[in-house]
Amino acid sequence: MVEAKRRGLESWGVDINPLARLITKAKTTPIDLNRLEATHDNLMERLRNIFFDPKEFAKRVSIPKFFNIEYWFKPKVIESLSVIKKEIMQIEDQDILDFYKVVFSETVRDCSNVRGGEFKLFRIPPEKLKNYNPNALATFLQKAERNLKGFRDYFKELSDKKYLDVHVRILDEDTRFKTSIPDESVDLIVTSPPYGDSKTTVAYGQYSRLSLQWLDFEDRICRSIDRVSLGGNSPEDETVLQVSKSLKRIWEEIKRRDNKRASDVLSFYSDMFLCMEELDRVMKERGRICFVIGNRTVKSVTIPTDEILVEMFERFGFGHRETIIRDIPNKTMPLKNSPTNEPGKVEKTMWNEHIVIVERR
Ligand SMILES: C[S@@+](CC[C@H](N)C(=O)[O-])C[C@H]1O[C@@H](n2cnc3c(N)ncnc32)[C@H](O)[C@@H]1O
Repeated sequence: MVEAKRRGLESWGVDINPLARLITKAKTTPIDLNRLEATHDNLMERLRNIFFDPKEFAKRVSIPKFFNIEYWFKPKVIESLSVIKKEIMQIEDQDILDFYKVVFSETVRDCSNVRGGEFKLFRIPPEKLKNYNPNALATFLQKAERNLKGFRDYFKELSDKKYLDVHVRILDEDTRFKTSIPDESVDLIVTSPPYGDSKTTVAYGQYSRLSLQWLDFEDRICRSIDRVSLGGNSPEDETVLQVSKSLKRIWEEIKRRDNKRASDVLSFYSDMFLCMEELDRVMKERGRICFVIGNRTVKSVTIPTDEILVEMFERFGFGHRETIIRDIPNKTMPLKNSPTNEPGKVEKTMWNEHIVIVERR
């Protein structure tokens, strides 16, 4: 949506995850630079003074109550984050507040006890945790400066091109069902859907939970994300097996090895099919869809999602234009997962991703 706005294109964005929507909102909402910079200088100075003065610091500590907070954060980090949050929450301008909530969310993630490079939330092992002492204030200040710089460049570009008012609409909706986007109104869809069900691939809900909890989102919402994610909870529907020959072939192969995993795979693609129905509804004639997708492995069977998607799209009258294969050189997404879902056991998985482009005939 940032890229659309930089090109003067109106855009809609849909995501079930409130953190994804918050980040998108913060990245696409122009804020008057003078106001943002004044708030920034004031916030940075306040924080430095408070952290410099133990009495002032102690006055502001208020530990949030959410499940397992002590497991995921060291005591000093919890105190520091609580003080930073208290100062941020005093910002009255909602757009500026959201900007700093995103900085805060990045700080939460970086200073937590979560081990990097995994698909799931696992804690840093105890022997490493002993000497792990992240500095939440330094992390926050550094991220705030970086985001401010990015924002300055973005704001200047939009303002020079007179694109500041180009519409960006972010929807708290589920792509499997009818969204607020009007029929046949969209020229281009760019999406990177989940690569598989949350249980066994990237658990976005788990990944965002700590940030959401720190930002006071209801526990009910934080815990529901993976369930409403594609393949999270849907009954399997064998219709898709008639639509895609490739899916049928690998589904049968996985079923021979593990019934339950075959059923997860089927429910994921059934959900994907529902999404396609919705994409088809909003798409203009000759409109194009770009799907970024990884071909994941289940029970050592590689699922050719790129081919499956093309076959499924054909059902809706979309023709395949091309598939671009892109290496993943340095994505923060883990490159390995555990075939058995056990921590520590890893198997090479998505090393490259496919960009599948189809066009409505
Ligand atoms: C691979 S991430 C892509 C995130 C982001 N759109 C981007 O391109 O960087 C997949 C996203 O799909 C979202 N998602 C999963 N199921 C969804 C659904 N049923 N409707 C809308 N979004 C969904 C997840 O919350 C997650 O943010």
